[in-house]
Amino acid sequence: MNILLTGGAGYIGSHTCVALQEQGYSVIVIDNLCNSRAVSLSRVEEITGRPVIFYPLDLCGREGVRSVFKRHHIDAAVHFAGLKSVAESVEKPLTYYQNNIDATLTLCEVMKEHGVKNFVFSSSATVYGNPETVPIKEGAPLAPFNPYGRSKRFIEEILTDLHQSDSSWNIALLRYFNPMGAHPSGRIGEDPSGVPNNLMPYISQVAVGKRPELLVYGDDYPTPDGTGVRDYIHVMDLAEGHVRGLEKTMSGAGLTTYNLGTGKGCSVKEMIAAFEKASGRRIPFKIAGRRPGDVPAYYADPSLAEKELGWRARRGIHEMCADAWRWQSMNPDGYPS
Ligand code: NAD
Ligand code: WQD
Repeated sequence: MNILLTGGAGYIGSHTCVALQEQGYSVIVIDNLCNSRAVSLSRVEEITGRPVIFYPLDLCGREGVRSVFKRHHIDAAVHFAGLKSVAESVEKPLTYYQNNIDATLTLCEVMKEHGVKNFVFSSSATVYGNPETVPIKEGAPLAPFNPYGRSKRFIEEILTDLHQSDSSWNIALLRYFNPMGAHPSGRIGEDPSGVPNNLMPYISQVAVGKRPELLVYGDDYPTPDGTGVRDYIHVMDLAEGHVRGLEKTMSGAGLTTYNLGTGKGCSVKEMIAAFEKASGRRIPFKIAGRRPGDVPAYYADPSLAEKELGWRARRGIHEMCADAWRWQSMNPDGYPS
């Protein structure tokens, strides 16, 4: 079976390429490389020993996307492509809405033209905003509070309308919590451009000596140690969740929504301690003020995915840190340019 991965050269997409190929699927990637490098896909080929068909195209360009569907029989699409920085989305809302929504509309239109109606979408736990209660279930109110999160919510609504208009579409909305870690080979991993926004790449860069210290954004939250609590999930668990989500979708499941998380919260201080243990390096840190827009604590109730997909996250924080560290120490400057 041929699976189209949009954004497949990126962090989660490249790991999902590996998981899909290991399950016998053939993968075709469309990525405009605006936040990734094609070498990630060469490394996927090296890990799996199987070819990745790659088209360096912008998904907003309809003719290019059409040409891929004309050239290949595609059974399903997993749609990762999108811009993902919360802070940048606040500065450039139009860019975020244009890129994320237009890319999705173009993809869906071309899929419809070719009768391909199996679709897995990269949504985010960010659609829940600041949750009223934790753990968060899929039915919790949606209240994203930045343009990035709203672009995810709008796309979920567009896909829901699409399914309502034509119930032969099978669409899985996968809401990820906080992905981290890397493939255990150390050959693919997260390669942020510039100063990382997210906790794990920042800690990794401190550990490898690229940055002097970590700023901990707030230690006065109503959490056990005062620092923010999140549900960190190993990127390979997430990748395997996509394989299950895809299989469910291709079995004719209609419209489905799943949280992909571990169900366990981990604080910033706990993460620092776990990373120090896994890497054998000290992580100097300083307590700073709260980061605007941060919520105190969120973590998933992942029981629906376990019940309906037969999937649950298997890897713990130690393995996430050990794999993140292997990637960072083997590739201190990320992928070669
Ligand atoms: P990433 O930036 O590494 O990957 C996204 C890929 O999409 C990049 O390779 C980029 O070049 C490509 N892309 C962007 N716009 C495109 C366009 N118009 N045409 C073609 N390619 C385009 O990000 P990631 O962390 O791998 O995230 C993948 C998806 O998962 C994104 O949609 C993101 O919003 C979502 N997500 C990520 C996280 C996270 O914390 N990493 C959490 C929840 C959801
Ligand atoms: C985690 C914790 C910070 C950096 C973001 C997006 C979300 C999703 C995942 C895509 C928080 C603290 C962080 C640092 C710190 N992306 N922190 N020092 O904010 O939960 O989620 O990425 O969908 O939409 O908002 O992740 O890794 O930025 O932060 O103390 O240098 O680490 O305050 O408590 P977040 P994060």
